[in-house]
Amino acid sequence: MIGILVPSLNSTKMLQDPSMNKPSPRFRSSGDLILDRRYEYAQSLHQRGEFGAAADLLRQTLDLAPEWAPAWFALGENMLKLGHADKAIEAFSQSAKHDPMDEFGAKLKLGSLGIKAASASASRAYIQTLFDQYADRFDSHLHGTLHYRGPLLLKAAIARLELKSFAKVLDLGCGTGLAGEAFRPLAMYLSGVDLSPRMIEIAHRKEIYDHLEIASIVDFLARQPNATANLILAADVLVYFGDLEEMFCLIGQCLAIGGYFAFTLQKFAGSSYAIGTDMRFSHNESYVRETSAKFSLKLHCLEPAATRQEAGVEVPGLIGIVERFQL
Ligand SMILES: C[S@@+](CC[C@H](N)C(=O)[O-])C[C@H]1O[C@@H](n2cnc3c(N)ncnc32)[C@H](O)[C@@H]1O
Repeated sequence: MIGILVPSLNSTKMLQDPSMNKPSPRFRSSGDLILDRRYEYAQSLHQRGEFGAAADLLRQTLDLAPEWAPAWFALGENMLKLGHADKAIEAFSQSAKHDPMDEFGAKLKLGSLGIKAASASASRAYIQTLFDQYADRFDSHLHGTLHYRGPLLLKAAIARLELKSFAKVLDLGCGTGLAGEAFRPLAMYLSGVDLSPRMIEIAHRKEIYDHLEIASIVDFLARQPNATANLILAADVLVYFGDLEEMFCLIGQCLAIGGYFAFTLQKFAGSSYAIGTDMRFSHNESYVRETSAKFSLKLHCLEPAATRQEAGVEVPGLIGIVERFQL
């Protein structure tokens, strides 16, 4: 790992995972200006609701650039709007084929269209690009439009267990630090990790973390010394993971005996988990209970709670708190 020098604002350390060099833009040029312009025009047709015209233009473009993933992805979006799920699947499959890092999230789209094996979690490239682009308006959008209250609900659930202070707190997918802000008063040492350098930059400016790291949660947890964390937070982050086994296994290893893991989820009525059209995973309660038990995590609460709204409607969610116990 390479340490990044941080301006003399405070003593927070920021580290960058070497595999996470530069964020790549969501738009990737075809290498041909005329085709790029056609793509942009197709996007503006899409914005205006002219999905058929946008699809025609994208098809013509793809005749000339058949390996251009963004255009396949855009074609898939228009096919969905036109109600042609089979053609959308075909287009997203082509996009996934020509975008091996899955920066555009075509595999998530395929999952949401019922292609089961498409993706068990969001790709790192997709997350990094999405949140780098979102970072500057994240706080105002979450508070203002989405009425986000994940960190406050987690804090209230922790308070109900009469837990008041933690020696070492890890904030997974810390983003701009909304959970960090809520939990700082309870944490003697607070460490945050996120894939998005732009989100981490904003968290860093708030001067609330003792340590910040640009890395994937899985890599970060795998590097932690065993049985040392007293509280691990995942506020609105498990929605980017379908299969929770690897995550819960690593959390079980990192938590000290008597340490807690507090998380939010979107609620799923079917079995185990699924990816929705919002490109976020939702999880079934029984699946969470079984996965916790499998990794020696005692469930203290798993209760319904809407942490945010979508188009003005509460999104059904869950708040969970588990404790690592001695076998
Ligand atoms: C919706 S935001 C929530 C941020 C923060 N926890 C909060 O409550 O405001 C999700 C964050 O998780 C990060 N994230 C998602 N998957 C990740 C992964 N596999 N590794 C590291 N960070 C991840 C994203 O970059 C993003 O900043």
